[in-house]
Amino acid sequence: MSSLAHLIAVQNHAVYSSDCQQLAQQLQLQLVETEPSTPFVLIVDERGVAIQQTGPKAPGPVRVDFLAGASEHRRKQGGGELIVKAVAGDKQNKPTVLDATAGLGRDSFVLASCGYPVTLCERSPLIAALLADGLQRAAKADEVELRNIVNNMRLINTNAVEYMQLLGSQSVDAVVIDPMFPPSKKSALVKKEMQVFHQLVGADNDSEALIEQALLTARHRVVVKRPKKAEHLAARKPNFSVEGKAIRFDIYSLKAYGK
Ligand SMILES: C[S@@+](CC[C@H](N)C(=O)[O-])C[C@H]1O[C@@H](n2cnc3c(N)ncnc32)[C@H](O)[C@@H]1O
Repeated sequence: MSSLAHLIAVQNHAVYSSDCQQLAQQLQLQLVETEPSTPFVLIVDERGVAIQQTGPKAPGPVRVDFLAGASEHRRKQGGGELIVKAVAGDKQNKPTVLDATAGLGRDSFVLASCGYPVTLCERSPLIAALLADGLQRAAKADEVELRNIVNNMRLINTNAVEYMQLLGSQSVDAVVIDPMFPPSKKSALVKKEMQVFHQLVGADNDSEALIEQALLTARHRVVVKRPKKAEHLAARKPNFSVEGKAIRFDIYSLKAYGK
């Protein structure tokens, strides 16, 4: 059994029983017939795989749905997103990006929707399972534009520090790092996702190692997402930053694009 087995179990669904069995086996979690006594449950329904808190006042499920809601909005607004400004690069030959902390894939999706080929690194097998499901469903979408976007996204379930070491130096144009933020009181959506991350994924204690390795692996830029008022990651001063209302991207510029 996985070390998460006391926190989450897979709840069987009559229609999606084989998917449920496969997930339970892959993630080494218990497969149960009714809502488990664990604080979270992994469900599969017509909208795909989701993590749901258990209990009467639980917020809605957390899933990766590139077809709806915020992702749809971000895709249409994509060009204006701060992360696109932060990664920047040649408009014709878009830089290759390694998203070292893929999470629910939202930043990667914005970049991919603006034409950047993105490799998504996610070390948590649970979060990677949500992401893989979201990518697979989007790859079968009716909209050709959405299928093209996810064709630009490649998921790897591994630790990004080790993956970058294997890649070797200067092997991608840009590396993006978004370590876990401290819990925020901002919105219900942030809250439920934060609860999932804090309880099921845990703290990102190796983000200093991530930035050090990223500075070796990137050819042109390392981009670090931070809460607006937070100190610089690993006390490394960036070349410049771009700021939004609540967040900031610190840019470590290694070599101009095109050089
Ligand atoms: C704050 S979330 C990232 C959210 C993401 N930017 C998005 O748009 O959805 C951080 C994620 O990075 C992952 N992570 C942290 N350190 C990692 C590492 N060294 N290698 C791979 N994944 C890592 C965590 O498991 C977590 O899912």
